[in-house]
Amino acid sequence: MSPSPAKSLLSVSAVSKAFGDHQVLRAVDLEVARGEVVAIIGASGSGKTTLLRSLNGLETPDAGVITAGDVAVDFGALAAAKPSAADRQRAALRDKSAMVFQHYHLFPHRTVLQNVTEGPIVVQKRPREEAEREAYSLLKRVGLADKADAYPHQLSGGQQQRVGIVRALALKPALLLFDEPTSALDPELVGDVLLLMRDLAAEGWTMVVVTHELQFAREVATQVAFLDAGSVLEVGPPAQVLGEPREERTRQFVRRLTHPM
Ligand SMILES: Nc1ncnc2c1ncn2[C@@H]1O[C@H](COP(=O)(O)OP(=O)(O)OP(=O)(O)O)[C@@H](O)[C@H]1O
Ligand SMILES: [Mg+2]
Repeated sequence: MSPSPAKSLLSVSAVSKAFGDHQVLRAVDLEVARGEVVAIIGASGSGKTTLLRSLNGLETPDAGVITAGDVAVDFGALAAAKPSAADRQRAALRDKSAMVFQHYHLFPHRTVLQNVTEGPIVVQKRPREEAEREAYSLLKRVGLADKADAYPHQLSGGQQQRVGIVRALALKPALLLFDEPTSALDPELVGDVLLLMRDLAAEGWTMVVVTHELQFAREVATQVAFLDAGSVLEVGPPAQVLGEPREERTRQFVRRLTHPM
C-alpha cells in the first residue's frame, strides 16, 4: 500500500522543526500531486526556506513524515536510526528533488557547463559525454548555449539564475524546488526567469516555489500555501487564497505585498 494518497507525488505530514527553542515549523501538512505548481508565500522568518530545505534533505525535521515518490522518511523515527541508515534515507529524499536558490549558488571557479554537469557526472555517475550533450541542449533552450564556457561572474543575474534552473533540470528530478528565485534580480531581469518557470510548469514539471511574485502565483500555481509562524495557515487555489483569503492574517499579508507602501 502506498503511504500517501495515490495522487500525491509529494506528501508532507506533520513536519516540525526547531532551532534550539525556536519552533520554526509547526506540524506542516502539504499534498502536491504530479504536475502541480505550489506557491508558498509568507513573511520573512515564517519558515519557507526551512520547509524547502527539509523537502530536499538539506535540513532534518524533528518530527513528521515526508514522502516523495517512492521514498518516505519518518523523521521522528530517523533520530533512533543508525547514522548510516539515516544518511541513506536523507540522500534518497534529496535525489527526488533539485533546488534553485535565491542567490544562484553556482560554483564561481567552474564554467557554466561544469556547473551544469557536476551533479549528473559526479553524483549520478552518468557518462560525461551524455551529461554534456544534455547540458548543451538545456543551455540552448534557455538561450545560453554561447555561455557554456563562461564563468558565473561573466553573466548577468538573470543568466546566472537560468543556469541555476538548467543545473536543476539536468538532474532530472521528480520535483523542482525554487526558493525566491527572482528576488535577488534587477526588476528588468525577473521576467525572463518567470517566463522560463512558466514554460516548465506548462511542460508538466512538479514545482514548489517560494515566491513573492503574486501575479506568477495567480497565473501559474495550482495551490497557494500561506505559511505563518511555521504553520500552513491557509492553503487552496490561488483565486481563493490570494483573492478571497479566509484568514485575516493572509488578507493582511497579501494586501501588504500588493500595496507595499
Ligand atoms: N540553521 C539555523 N539555525 C538557527 N536558526 C535558523 C536556522 N535556519 C533558519 N533559522 C531561523 O528559522 C526561522 C525561519 O527561517 P527561514 O529561513 O526558514 O525563513 P523564511 O521564511 O525563508 O524567511 P525569508 O523570507 O527571510 O527568507 C528564522 O527565524 C531563522 O532565523
Ligand atoms: Mg527564505
